[in-house]
Amino acid sequence: MRVAPSILSADFSCLREELKTVESAEWIHIDVMDGHFVPNLTIGPLVVKALRPHSTQTFDVHLMMDNPTNFFKEFIEAGSDQITFHVEAVDDVQRWVDHLHHNKVKAGLSLKPKTEVQSLAPFLSDLDLVLVMSVEPGFGGQAFMPDMLEKIQKLKEIRDDKGYHFDIVVDGGINTQTARSCEQAGADVLVAGSFIFKSDDRKEKIKQVRGE
Ligand code: DX5
Ligand code: ZN
Repeated sequence: MRVAPSILSADFSCLREELKTVESAEWIHIDVMDGHFVPNLTIGPLVVKALRPHSTQTFDVHLMMDNPTNFFKEFIEAGSDQITFHVEAVDDVQRWVDHLHHNKVKAGLSLKPKTEVQSLAPFLSDLDLVLVMSVEPGFGGQAFMPDMLEKIQKLKEIRDDKGYHFDIVVDGGINTQTARSCEQAGADVLVAGSFIFKSDDRKEKIKQVRGE
């Protein structure tokens, strides 16, 4: 199990130091919100660019915004390793998955809790990751929606059946208990924000999410 601490729950006045406290995790999850696709406003490519020299971890950028492709260039140039956008927010999904690959950035698609896995079907063969939202996107600290476990299982079935390579990533409400449910359902990577950052012993929390 790999872990992606979400810096949404970090102290924004000292993000560089906050990154150091979660160095034992594989990825850093960066939540970008536009105040329109979701009712919250966060950070943009300038922050990704500012943090890039201070970490060798995979920068996993989650774009919760309308017209995310307008900012692909900036996020790519800022040093994103992988960019996940919402299937609900883009019309020509395949074109933009190809665009990311052409720019040597991994491509992910995310879906809100009410969106069916079926909407991802045409793109699954080309994706590097699928980000299953297990809360309504917008805020950290919400409760995990157990119904989303079925989506994880379904994605795993499709992947195993067709021989696809995407990682199944789960985002929202992850703690020690929900982490194990996601693992059993087939998740490969867990995003955790408040569970990790509200603690002073983040290394321990990362281990707990991992199941160690
Ligand atoms: C929610 C974000 C998540 C958020 C998760 O819209 O996409 O990445 O930070 O936070 P927790 O782990 O607190 O649910
Ligand atoms: Zn996220």
